[in-house]
Amino acid sequence: TPRVFSGIQPSGGLTLGNYLGAIKRFVSMQDEAYETIYCMVDLHAITVWQDPADLARNTRELAAGFIASGISPEKSILINQSQVPEHAQLGWIFNCVARMGWMKRMTQFKDKAGKNAEAASLGLFGYPALMAADILIYHATHVPVGEDQKQHLELTRDIATKFNHDYGVDFFPLTEPVIEGAATRVMSLRDGSKKMSKSDPSDASRINMTDDADAIAKKIRKAKTDPDALPSEAAGLAERPEARNLVNIYAALNDQTVDQVLAEVGGQQFGTFKPLLAELAVAKLSPISEEMARLMADTAEIDRILARGADQAREIAAPILQKTYEIVGMVR
Ligand code: TYM
Repeated sequence: TPRVFSGIQPSGGLTLGNYLGAIKRFVSMQDEAYETIYCMVDLHAITVWQDPADLARNTRELAAGFIASGISPEKSILINQSQVPEHAQLGWIFNCVARMGWMKRMTQFKDKAGKNAEAASLGLFGYPALMAADILIYHATHVPVGEDQKQHLELTRDIATKFNHDYGVDFFPLTEPVIEGAATRVMSLRDGSKKMSKSDPSDASRINMTDDADAIAKKIRKAKTDPDALPSEAAGLAERPEARNLVNIYAALNDQTVDQVLAEVGGQQFGTFKPLLAELAVAKLSPISEEMARLMADTAEIDRILARGADQAREIAAPILQKTYEIVGMVR
């Protein structure tokens, strides 16, 4: 069976971008013909400073978010990255396969390191090699992600190709990115040219999965738009990034295409459309946030699920790591 792996950083709360760009697809793939492994990537989170208490809390809350969104620990393997040491072990090998020049080209590194790249952690620079290890330690074939991870997944293929070539083996598969749906790049509610992000200083720019109904409605009401009515087909949104973003969100939340949505709401002003969107968002998100809060009341249960997930994951990862060491010539 084809195997799916994907991960999310516990570096803050979950946003609507994470939910629509990634988690919703995680849930649907779990119910299709895939073996699915989903991961809280705590080792990746600490590539930038994380307060220890916040990291622990965010990791458990992210696990709760996965489960509340429909990821079943019975159907998927749910893990915290540092609890499966094979990720970091293979990550080291990949540090020695990947090239400095490849890493320097990563747009996410350039964005996150900002002007002072010399002060960035070495972990932030090497981030994509560990990400390749996350995926390839399971020989995963499919990786559902949002648009912003595309370049990292191309690098994962480059690492697999170079490893296979250097050692003359056909060992690591070339993974397929799965970037699908109406909301592979959810934009900020304040600026249609920036992606919605948990690290944006403006809380009004994003919808958090833990926002209550009033906060969701208020953020949508205040979302930046243009003065025109909605068009009746998708082509009419081409030059209207804020309008397009809100329609994309509506479509993704309601499992529709953009054209289906516009067939219903085309011609409406935002004064009419925004309350519809807010109502839909609250209807879809509040059951998830309520379930998250319920799960967070018993963190021991979350910890048990993660411990069991780690055992299951290591059964797959350990033999692949052993085989890798053998290929590389490491004495066991
Ligand atoms: P992270 O934690 O930034 O985001 C997690 C997932 O959410 C998607 N996403 C979005 N999708 C649409 N619109 C947005 N505004 C938006 N913001 C975030 C991301 O594309 C991602 O799918 N490097 C990864 C974590 C990672 C990983 C992996 C992913 C580590 N190892 C292995 C896949 C496979 C990251 O920082 O995601």
